[in-house]
Amino acid sequence: MNPSDKGLADRSGLVFRQDYFDDPAGWSAIKTLLIDIFDVDISALDGLGGHDRTSFPSAYFDGDGRCIANLSAFSMPLMIDGRAIKAAGWQSGAVRPEYRGRGLYQDLIRITLDRCEEQGLEAIVLYTDKPGLYTPHGFRILPQYSFKGPAPAISEAPRPARLLDINTDLDLLRKLLTDRMPVSSRFAVADQRLMFLLNCHLIEDISLSLLADGEAVVVWRLADDGAFQLLDVAGSRIPPLTEIVAGLGIAPVSVEAFVTPDRLSWESEAIADTGSQVFMMHAQNDIYPTGPTCISPMAEF
Ligand SMILES: CC(C)(COP(=O)(O)OP(=O)(O)OC[C@H]1O[C@@H](n2cnc3c(N)ncnc32)[C@H](O)[C@@H]1OP(=O)(O)O)[C@@H](O)C(=O)NCCC(=O)NCCS
Repeated sequence: MNPSDKGLADRSGLVFRQDYFDDPAGWSAIKTLLIDIFDVDISALDGLGGHDRTSFPSAYFDGDGRCIANLSAFSMPLMIDGRAIKAAGWQSGAVRPEYRGRGLYQDLIRITLDRCEEQGLEAIVLYTDKPGLYTPHGFRILPQYSFKGPAPAISEAPRPARLLDINTDLDLLRKLLTDRMPVSSRFAVADQRLMFLLNCHLIEDISLSLLADGEAVVVWRLADDGAFQLLDVAGSRIPPLTEIVAGLGIAPVSVEAFVTPDRLSWESEAIADTGSQVFMMHAQNDIYPTGPTCISPMAEF
């Protein structure tokens, strides 16, 4: 048993554990749970220095050391309408099928809510396809949008960007993420380095391009219809879209941004996301953003 475990509430022969990711057996058990339930392999994190040290998971284990139920929270500071908000993301919420319907997940939700309150967090965010699990606990759906518009006209002579490699340019990427300005002042992640790096491994077909001044990396891809898709910009300054497109040396027919675009100096239309996954938030009313927003897929968790 890891000495950092804080509670041992036994429930039907189960062992309650918290903050167990530093225990190699515990870390292996949560990875197995996520593969079994979501078919998601987070082993890439091991090559990135391991789990997020801000995580505070709560879980039930069986007598054989299998993780049978888990809910993790981690620090995810947000920028909302110009305010820095101390927030947490919730992820890896799952119960093994043979243990469902006993109230284990409701327990984990209540425990994790209490822990967030103890830490003075102003907001909690999560993605789910089962919003009904969370609405009784005060979470509300925050509709997500993408932003579409014409490609900007390029007037200046382009200063070519350089393609980065997630493996060989890791130190540079880490530095850019550490120094980053939120991509939007209306709604964006203010600091979530590990998720960005993990998503570089999990999201297919993306390119990372370092702009000529070395101050920002652009995450992008070209859609089948020729649209330029902007997934994120990480760096100490957020360049206008004209500079981004010029630097990449492309001539797209249109642009679709998956970030709230207020810092891009570009006119666009908000298109509501109608996917089955919804984004939910738990916060005081005055913290919810005004107007259509989007959180970068590179921050998805
Ligand atoms: C969703 C899941 C975590 C529920 O675990 P569980 O231990 O069976 O849940 P509990 O027994 O604690 O709670 C069940 C309660 O939630 C409700 N619930 C269960 N599934 C629900 C759903 N899909 N939508 C809304 N409510 C749901 C039940 O009606 C029950 O409510 P009650 O307490 O008022 O009777 C589990 O089914 C699971 O792991 N599913 C696959 C992974 C997943 O979807 N995770 C959630 C990701 S956000």
